[in-house]
Amino acid sequence: MLSAISKSFFHLLARSRGLEALASRVGMARPTSFGRRFIAGETLDEAIAAARAIQAGGMNVTLDQLGESVTTISGADAATRIYLQTVDAIVGAGVERNISLKLSQLGLNIDRATCTDNLRRILEASRPHDFFVRIDMEESSTVPATLEVFQSVWDQGSRHVGLVLQSALYRSEEDARRLSDAGVRIRLVKGAYKEPKSVAYQKKADVDAAFVRIMDQLLRTGTYPALATHDPAIIDAAKRMAAANRIGNDRYEFQMLYGIRRDLQAALVAEGFRLRLYVPFGTQWFPYFMRRLGERPANLAFVLRALIRDR
Ligand code: FDA
Repeated sequence: MLSAISKSFFHLLARSRGLEALASRVGMARPTSFGRRFIAGETLDEAIAAARAIQAGGMNVTLDQLGESVTTISGADAATRIYLQTVDAIVGAGVERNISLKLSQLGLNIDRATCTDNLRRILEASRPHDFFVRIDMEESSTVPATLEVFQSVWDQGSRHVGLVLQSALYRSEEDARRLSDAGVRIRLVKGAYKEPKSVAYQKKADVDAAFVRIMDQLLRTGTYPALATHDPAIIDAAKRMAAANRIGNDRYEFQMLYGIRRDLQAALVAEGFRLRLYVPFGTQWFPYFMRRLGERPANLAFVLRALIRDR
């Protein structure tokens, strides 16, 4: 209940242009600024430096150029061009070739065909360089369109692209079955958005139980599933399921967000599990940052501490 309220509250704040302008001015200004806790930096160079450090620590990365809910065709084109530059820069820097993106950045909410074309441009530029491109999942209202855009590039032969499914949504168990039968690589998450009860579980226990059911299915029949959570109980359940089914550590991976549960990240790597960090960067970090606060309102304390320290 409390977590639903805090999610709604922070999602509401995330729409405040005034707060965004204020946060953007101070949130990344210094090395100690609060935004840097969850965001690798505002520039591609900073993201690449973060990726190098993470890889040196024995982890893998996926780079995410932040941005969402683009409202004009020219904005979607600009986001696509930034992704194309990101692909080139990653190749040039020699860091791992793995990116995550949101279809609302590429124009999903404006025009489906334009969005598909933009995604295709990124897939075509990245294919010769052995990239993997992960499509993040956004609000439930965008799931059918996201699946359709994905299906159209998949049907045209793209296989270096995968999807995210959210265990909070009732539909995800069926989507997971259908997509893993087709060999699609899935990242399983709990779901970061505030959703109505017509489409999503409202209790954390139900979201967690659905995560475990889908995880079980993906581990046994999926293609290199990514289990994206910081939940120690679920991570332990994954290890037990994999061991019971004799599934080697190389057949799946854990994923976590940059800056969250660094203790657990280090422990997993020390135990020999594969772990990929989602490394977000860019100037449009405010909505992403607010979702992280909504998940754990205690994070407000470090924002306040950083503001007092940097004042
Ligand atoms: P849960 O919320 O139960 O948290 C478990 C524990 O993790 C907490 O007790 C706490 O210790 C720690 N924790 C979690 N969130 C924290 C925070 N913000 N700050 C500090 N500690 C925190 N969602 C989505 O809808 N679409 C997507 O495409 C993605 N993509 C994605 C990629 C990757 C790699 C990850 C790890 C997550 C996502 N998510 C996402 C976000 C996901 O849906 C979910 O909101 C968060 O991962 C938090 O849920 P947990 O599974 O960690 O569990």
